Amino acid sequence: MPDATRIAVVGAGLIGRRHAVAVQAAKGVELACIVDPAPAAQHYAAELDVDCVPDIAALVDRRGIDGVILSTPNAMHADGALACIAAGLPVLIEKPLTTELESARRVVSAAEAATIPIATGHHRRHNPLIARAKALIDEGALGQIASVHGMTWFMKPDDYFDTDWRRRKGAGPVFLNLIHDIDLLQYFCGPVASVHADESKNIRGYEVEETAVILLRFESGLLGTVNVCDSTVAPWSWELTARENPAYPATGEDCYWIGGTHGSLSLPNLTLWTNPEKRSWWEPISGTKMPFDFSDPLILQAEQFGRVVRREEEPIVSGRDGLAALAVIEAIKLSAITGETKQVAL
Ligand SMILES: NC(=O)c1ccc[n+]([C@@H]2O[C@H](COP(=O)([O-])OP(=O)(O)OC[C@H]3O[C@@H](n4cnc5c(N)ncnc54)[C@H](O)[C@@H]3O)[C@@H](O)[C@H]2O)c1
Repeated sequence: MPDATRIAVVGAGLIGRRHAVAVQAAKGVELACIVDPAPAAQHYAAELDVDCVPDIAALVDRRGIDGVILSTPNAMHADGALACIAAGLPVLIEKPLTTELESARRVVSAAEAATIPIATGHHRRHNPLIARAKALIDEGALGQIASVHGMTWFMKPDDYFDTDWRRRKGAGPVFLNLIHDIDLLQYFCGPVASVHADESKNIRGYEVEETAVILLRFESGLLGTVNVCDSTVAPWSWELTARENPAYPATGEDCYWIGGTHGSLSLPNLTLWTNPEKRSWWEPISGTKMPFDFSDPLILQAEQFGRVVRREEEPIVSGRDGLAALAVIEAIKLSAITGETKQVAL
């Protein structure tokens, strides 16, 4: 393998272009190729001074690639990932891992059988503030976690839906956005055992949901709620608070609240609320902003993927983690259709 691990970005759309730039900025990896049949991708690759090929078969023929970042539309993840695995190429698959559990299981099984590492693109977990929050929880700074709440409210503009697949089943905010929140909540609080959800799509009238309200029961017995809506003008979402993507104006608000018997944590400001004296609602409560380093999680993810490709590390977010998040999402979709509480089936 050459000094820098050679990465191809498959699908040079909205996020694929951010991956391409992140790979170019990351240490230990280099952008070697763009894979995308669209004419615009040819121009983009020329701007970046890298090769462009139309599909994964052509990428495999081209050779000289060590790992792939797969950022095609959701419905193409399974076939794309299986093609990479069959070619012996480690692959970082954008979320959702695939559009349904059955194909996600096939992807994870194929990777395990072939001992090809795969990772899932839940890039938030590469944000140093998440590691700091997890350490605070694990150190017991909150005591026993009693409840969690996540807010994912924002406004997707009308022209976002000009791209056909974004209006179609499987591309709504539950699949595209909430899945990141679910991954983080499971990282902080352990596996979700069951969900009860309701959805609505009465504003734009597309196939995809606009709002979902979900009750989560974790295996530990902890209860949580999450509320996602992509048709509200509001500042409370990871996208508009975490400062990860400069394209979103940052608001300074929080969007997750993790409540424990000895303190609570609000994120992404990482404010730890405690009673300095006695734990009681009658007592003064103080909020301390915990320090953390800020680095671009997409660049950190690209660097970690390089180490995964070189077999130096296990992925921070594995294929199985992607499967676990998808399993919760699938249970949410099923619960919203049936009106029943659904167990999460891995
Ligand atoms: N991690 C994140 O925060 C994040 C953010 C946005 C999107 N995503 C995920 O990334 C994926 C892509 O989303 P997007 O918004 O960038 O989509 P997009 O529509 O902007 O881009 C998709 C690209 O894939 C290309 N493509 C289509 N078929 C292809 C094929 N067979 N081979 C190679 N390229 C092909 C298209 O030409 C297009 O350039 C989705 O799975 C989405 O859920 C993740």
